[in-house]
Amino acid sequence: MKAVTWQGRRDVRVETVPDPTIQEPTDAIIRVTSTNICGSDLHLYETLGPFMGQGDVLGHEPMGVVEEVGSAVGDLKVGDRVVIPFQISCGSCWMCDQQLYTQCETTQVREHGTGAALFGFSKLYGEVPGGQAEYLRVPQARFTHVKVPDGPPDERFVYLSDVLPTAWQAVAYASVPQGGTLVVLGLGPIGDMATRVAAHQGVGRVIAVDLVPERLERARARGVEVIDLREHDGADLAETIRGMTGGRGPDSVVDAVGMEAHGSPGAKLVQDVAGLLPSFLTRPLMERAGLDRLHALYSAIDIVRRGGTVSIIGVYGGMADPMPMMTMFDKQIQLRMGQANIKRWVPEILPLLTDGDPLGVEQFATHRLPLDQAPEAYAMFQKKEDGCVKVVLKP
Ligand SMILES: NC(=O)c1ccc[n+]([C@@H]2O[C@H](COP(=O)([O-])OP(=O)(O)OC[C@H]3O[C@@H](n4cnc5c(N)ncnc54)[C@H](O)[C@@H]3O)[C@@H](O)[C@H]2O)c1
Ligand SMILES: [Zn+2]
Ligand SMILES: [Zn+2]
Repeated sequence: MKAVTWQGRRDVRVETVPDPTIQEPTDAIIRVTSTNICGSDLHLYETLGPFMGQGDVLGHEPMGVVEEVGSAVGDLKVGDRVVIPFQISCGSCWMCDQQLYTQCETTQVREHGTGAALFGFSKLYGEVPGGQAEYLRVPQARFTHVKVPDGPPDERFVYLSDVLPTAWQAVAYASVPQGGTLVVLGLGPIGDMATRVAAHQGVGRVIAVDLVPERLERARARGVEVIDLREHDGADLAETIRGMTGGRGPDSVVDAVGMEAHGSPGAKLVQDVAGLLPSFLTRPLMERAGLDRLHALYSAIDIVRRGGTVSIIGVYGGMADPMPMMTMFDKQIQLRMGQANIKRWVPEILPLLTDGDPLGVEQFATHRLPLDQAPEAYAMFQKKEDGCVKVVLKP
């Protein structure tokens, strides 16, 4: 089959790889019909290379049709139309009972001290072949799927794999009080969708920040107040937002940027250098030295009002990042974060996809391309060219 494979920094290629097969009774194989590129893939493309193996199959936002099942997949049947969540979880361990599916104790990658295994997401998360491919092996398939009805187009449902539940969790974890104000940093797919979810849930006021004109425009067109970071860098941004919120600052801030943030050239340089060194040298460096670009997180801490909540949904890696502990403590900030627990939120979201389209998912993708064009699509999405916000690949 054809699959999108990681070959090196900023180098992905569509190659022919062996078709996946059932390896455990709990496996299923799906034929992929739609599969997205995510901002999280950009971390693998750019900075997490030391944790990738050459030829690893990428992708964690697929949907399709069940082709084959093992003997222990519950009521999943050949022919079912399913969306596959980005995390692999058993649905029956203690963590899954708490609906903390990204911490599943059956699939945790203990070798690296990380949570549930993820599709297409480096050695840190189990090096499980991903879904940017014609076929996907789904471990723990009894629970690791969301059945969706036949009929409506894929794009109604494909974002259940990641974007929708992730944006939903970002807003839930932001704990915006009734009538309160939410600031969303970053208007990539996750931040954009978080503004839609917040508006749908009746959050009093939503303000969003980015630096890409088309992304700002897209949110503005849906009624979000937007701020262009290029006009307000550094401390000025927090001051501007405090000025817009009676001098106090917003109740809650979602960081939907993560470690590819624009704004810390020093860290960028180290990452660039790390990207060019052999991985056995850079892996410990990346794990311990903390090469993150924390620009967005620092601004979230600066922007939020005293006693407010910061919800970190953007992904961070590395260990020893200095945090502004004094400010965090002094401002009495509450922090929540983590990978989204996909199936925790699906029952609340699914009804919004079958009746009407209040979140605008059918028009959400800016690009629909054949799988073969994945290399061009990655480059375009990373450089934010051609108005690219979200790419759906069609195998
Ligand atoms: N927690 C989860 O489960 C989960 C799931 C999916 C994605 N993510 C993460 O969410 C983040 C966003 O993903 P995405 O798909 O929207 O990707 P993206 O990279 O397209 O979006 C990031 C956006 O942030 C903007 N930005 C950069 N620096 C900024 C700054 N300093 N202030 C404000 N905006 C800034 C960029 O211009 C871009 O539009 C990534 O880190 C991704 O890994 C997390
Ligand atoms: Zn994703
Ligand atoms: Zn589990």
